[in-house]
Amino acid sequence: MFFKKKEITQIDPQQRELYEHARKRVIEKKRLFRHFIVFIVGSVFFILLNLVFGYGKGITFFGTDWFVIAILLWAFFFAVHFCNVWLFSAFMGKEWSDRQIAKLVAKQKEEITLLQKDVELMYPKEELVKKKQEFIQERTSKPIEKPEKPKRVITMIAAAGENNSLGKDNDLVWHLPDDFKRFKEITTGHHIIMGRKTFETFPKLLPNRAHIVITRDTKYQAEGAIVVHSMKEALDAAIGDMQPFIIGGGEIYTMGMEYADYIELTRVHETFDADTFFPEIDPKVWAVIKEEFHDMDEKHKYPFTYFTYKRKN
Ligand SMILES: NC(=O)c1ccc[n+]([C@@H]2O[C@H](COP(=O)([O-])OP(=O)(O)OC[C@H]3O[C@@H](n4cnc5c(N)ncnc54)[C@H](OP(=O)(O)O)[C@@H]3O)[C@@H](O)[C@H]2O)c1
Repeated sequence: MFFKKKEITQIDPQQRELYEHARKRVIEKKRLFRHFIVFIVGSVFFILLNLVFGYGKGITFFGTDWFVIAILLWAFFFAVHFCNVWLFSAFMGKEWSDRQIAKLVAKQKEEITLLQKDVELMYPKEELVKKKQEFIQERTSKPIEKPEKPKRVITMIAAAGENNSLGKDNDLVWHLPDDFKRFKEITTGHHIIMGRKTFETFPKLLPNRAHIVITRDTKYQAEGAIVVHSMKEALDAAIGDMQPFIIGGGEIYTMGMEYADYIELTRVHETFDADTFFPEIDPKVWAVIKEEFHDMDEKHKYPFTYFTYKRKN
């Protein structure tokens, strides 16, 4: 549908340009279509002239009848016309898009100038300069914050009765499967540091954990485990681990008290006859940050609570 001339002048200039372009395209396509029809009719006409009326019979170019050459030449010009309409100016042409971009840029510049004027009206120039200087000063005087290096956390993990009992005759005095499960979950993938006596209570190495055994015996050997002779050495051996665990027994927990950041203690709510004990947890040094009660049931003869202690700073 085309607008009347009067209506067109009322449209905004950008839309008007689009309309003008669309109109030109329609005319171009119409011309191309007419060219095609004339080409077909003309070709048939040439053939008739030659074959039916005998016009120009015997006139050949390079051994080909004149009308074939004429039709081929015309076909070539038609192809050029076709390309011109459908390929070269199908996308509104480069010139047109360049003009559109230039217009947009000019419009943006105009808007920026208007904004600047608004800002100048709101803040006097001196105030703006002052604000800019303040901002730069603040940026440069502020120390660049370095991302904090993740801190290595040393955790002791134990289960103890109400009287701090840990075990008797080099063995535990209870069987709490859920506590074992939790121990496995927490320590898997980490280094576990233990005394020689605790190590010897294991029937085999615990899977997916690096074992570090502390002993005074310099000749002591433990297959599949790292043997060290002090807590410091043990922690050094686990240096790549951001969360090594000290897993007992009594002597090693006592030694580990000064190194640990956290204690994961399962408090079994019963008093046991024992020969090994967990050291006293000084409330001035340690704070409970989490606790979770587990009641007794058919698999757990005693109720217990998981306590997480964090060293106070
Ligand atoms: N309830 C729990 O959570 C839990 C956890 C672990 C163990 N336990 C129990 O605790 C008991 C074992 O504990 P424990 O206190 O008798 O033994 P332990 O702490 O496992 O191991 C003691 C051994 O560590 C070595 N050691 C200790 N201090 C050392 C030092 N300063 N430098 C170098 N090496 C040192 C010594 O090994 P050498 O003699 O070879 O020199 C010492 O005999 C068992 O009953 C076990 O079942 C309970």
